[in-house]
Amino acid sequence: MRMFQQIGPLRTYLRGIREEGKTVGFIPTMGALHEGHLTLIRRAKSDCDLIVVSIFVNPTQFGPNEDFDAYPRRLMQDQQLTSGEGVDALFTPGVEEMYPAGYQTLVEVPELGKTLEGAVRPHHFRGVATVVTKLLNIVQPDRAYFGQKDYQQFLIIERLARDLNLSTDIAMIPTVRDPDGLALSSRNAYLSPEERSAAPVLIRALKQAEEMLVHGETNLATVRKAVEALLATEPLVVPEYVAFVHPDTLEPVNTLKNGLTLVALAARLGNTRLIDNALIAPPGVSPIRNRLGKL
Ligand code: PAJ
Repeated sequence: MRMFQQIGPLRTYLRGIREEGKTVGFIPTMGALHEGHLTLIRRAKSDCDLIVVSIFVNPTQFGPNEDFDAYPRRLMQDQQLTSGEGVDALFTPGVEEMYPAGYQTLVEVPELGKTLEGAVRPHHFRGVATVVTKLLNIVQPDRAYFGQKDYQQFLIIERLARDLNLSTDIAMIPTVRDPDGLALSSRNAYLSPEERSAAPVLIRALKQAEEMLVHGETNLATVRKAVEALLATEPLVVPEYVAFVHPDTLEPVNTLKNGLTLVALAARLGNTRLIDNALIAPPGVSPIRNRLGKL
């Protein structure tokens, strides 16, 4: 596996690869890699000739009171994991490489970025959209891979790639979970043992919503009440929002009659914030949403 900290040498290497006619798959991450990240890598490997992973804890997507300094950094372990998965190039730029003195350009996707996570974390998605645009311009992959766990992030990146005429195909892969259903996240490492045992109530709440909706309940206010009641059974879990939204626009929906609904949750467990979501289809509509374009 080749390691790059600088943009110039990575670009030179990738130019050579493209001249050989090889396709490039790209997985941007913030490191502390887990099975969720590794699943994205494996999917990319099955689609593309050459795999690039980036690890960059991007300061501009963290709010002033968020966990930028505490965010887990495990470069040695991540190097071993990526090399074990057969990743071809690992890009680990420093902050000065990505945001040199004088840097000022920002990328914003205002409508998709203002709800759900965007309402609670001002400027978060501006930071994500800016760094991902930069990374996509640096790597110029054929396809880039994102997880459903951060559904809103995926949607924003899909939108910016279309709006800015980027040539990369933006793919989404389903959420990878622990056996008890908790969505894998680098932030799960912050949970105390008690919080870790309370956390699967999030997936139970999503399943409860799914169960009611696929069994014909169309009134989302009723479903919301049931979800909130279930979350309330775990006193360590403090819900921030339970949202039923259209999966393309993220606008609130009141009934499931018309098609897929995204149920999105955010909750605090002590100092840790966790998010999760599910795409739910009414009877007769396929819950599988094909987010993979053509390569
Ligand atoms: P990070 O949290 O490291 O996640 C990198 C990618 O892995 C994202 O696309 C995320 O959705 C995906 N991922 C995380 N947990 C997952 C899980 N349990 N199952 C499936 N996929 C999962 O998301 C970021 O980094 C950053 O915002 C980034 C896009 C790199 C920009 O800085």
